[in-house]
Amino acid sequence: FSLKNYNTFGIEAKARQFVAVHSVAELKTVLKEHQNEKKFILGGGSNMLLTKDIEALVIHIDLKGKKIIKEDDDFVWIEGQAGENWHKFVLWNIDQNFGGLENMSLIPGNVGTTPVQNIGAYGAEIKDTFVSCEAIHIATQEMKTFTNAECNFGYRESIFKHEVKDQYIITSVVFKLTKRNHKINTSYGDILGELTQKGIENPGLKDVSNAVIAIRQSKLPDPKELGNSGSFFKNPIVLKVDFEKIHQKFPEMKFYDVSATEVKVPAGWLIEQAGFKGKRFGDAGVHKNQALVIVNYGNATGQEILEVSKKVQQTVFETFGIQIEAEVNII
Ligand code: EPU
Repeated sequence: FSLKNYNTFGIEAKARQFVAVHSVAELKTVLKEHQNEKKFILGGGSNMLLTKDIEALVIHIDLKGKKIIKEDDDFVWIEGQAGENWHKFVLWNIDQNFGGLENMSLIPGNVGTTPVQNIGAYGAEIKDTFVSCEAIHIATQEMKTFTNAECNFGYRESIFKHEVKDQYIITSVVFKLTKRNHKINTSYGDILGELTQKGIENPGLKDVSNAVIAIRQSKLPDPKELGNSGSFFKNPIVLKVDFEKIHQKFPEMKFYDVSATEVKVPAGWLIEQAGFKGKRFGDAGVHKNQALVIVNYGNATGQEILEVSKKVQQTVFETFGIQIEAEVNII
């Protein structure tokens, strides 16, 4: 079974066996029937690089649905099933004037995988509105609720990448969104510029969403046109004591404070300065508008993409002495 249409990198890789599940009951049955087999869980396929065929039963989580589960005068609790497309879910909430997700418009992937890496963009992260998620324990098929605190969210981090890695499948997520007094956040990067250019002074949820969409479309390639997985690397966090020495050598290096002892350096800047922006190696390359993104121009293999990423990592390390880590899961 070809997985080419199930990963946004558009990599041709094969699954030994493939099944799509459309309900929790169906998922439980499949897990029980294939208890002793190797399994691979596939959501939106937007944050992984397939470097080989999958010698396992691939279970595609296709659970659909979204609904209000609770509300008061100010807030609404929305439950989205894991297989809902994230961007459509965001737009559905904006259309009903539910606020909190608008800055995360147009992020590829599905609702169920957003908690795994605590997705974020333009000043917002999932952890700001996330209440809880339901997950099924793969080995016992028992359901468990993970609260926000239990998820141990960090920058592109959660418990699902560490303590309980590969043990659970998230089946639905609950977000607490505003019905009024929305916390409009236009502080990140070009959002304000984008709104000013349109003459919008008091932006609403839709205006912020449109601004984010316009910015993303101007820098980030559309996976439907050019295979990619968004940011391939995480922005490295460097100790201030080390950073001071690096900064003396490279005074124009950008950075953001993240704590009293650490700074975050934009990997896109490092990669661009290392000369990789827009560079192409066969069908694999570094995107011309955003150096954090590695793209598949057509028929690149996962191995070819991986090699480009390693070249980038190595050169950045040799140039700046900073290690950049992949954000994408390498399979
Ligand atoms: N930069 C460069 N060259 C580049 C790209 C960026 O010099 O090619 C510099 C920019 O000039 C800017 C800084 O890096 O000063 C930050 O750039 P940008 O605002 O584009 O954000 P980013 O740090 O490159 C992160 C997220 C994105 C998210 C944006 C906006 C990570 C790994 N990436 O990128 O998330 O959309 O911020 O919030 O944190 C993703 O995770 O897939 C993703 C696209």
